[in-house]
Amino acid sequence: MEVTIDDSYLIRAISEPLAEAPVGYPPAMPNLSLSDVEQKALVQWIMGLK
Ligand code: HEM
Repeated sequence: MEVTIDDSYLIRAISEPLAEAPVGYPPAMPNLSLSDVEQKALVQWIMGLK
C-alpha cells in the first residue's frame, strides 16, 4: 500500500507509534511524550530533510 508522508502522517506516527506499524516491523517504537511544540518542531525538521 502506498503511504503519503505529510505533516499529519508524521504527527500520528510520532504521537501514536503503535497505531499503524508498517508490515515487517515490530511494534517497538516507544511513546516519546513530546509536547505539541516539540512535536511540531520535529515534524518540520523531518519534512526539511527531503
Ligand atoms: C526522536 C526519536 C524518534 C523519532 C522522531 C521517531 C520517528 C518515527 C517515525 C516518523 C516513524 C514512521 C516512519 C514511517 O512510517 O516511515 C517511526 C517508526 C518506527 N520507529 Fe521511531 N522514532 C523515534 C524513536 C524510536 C525508538 C527509540 C525506537 C525503538 C527503540 C523506534 C522504533 C520505531 C519502529 C520499530 C518504527 C516502525 C513501526 C512503527 O511505526 O511503530 N523509534 N518512528
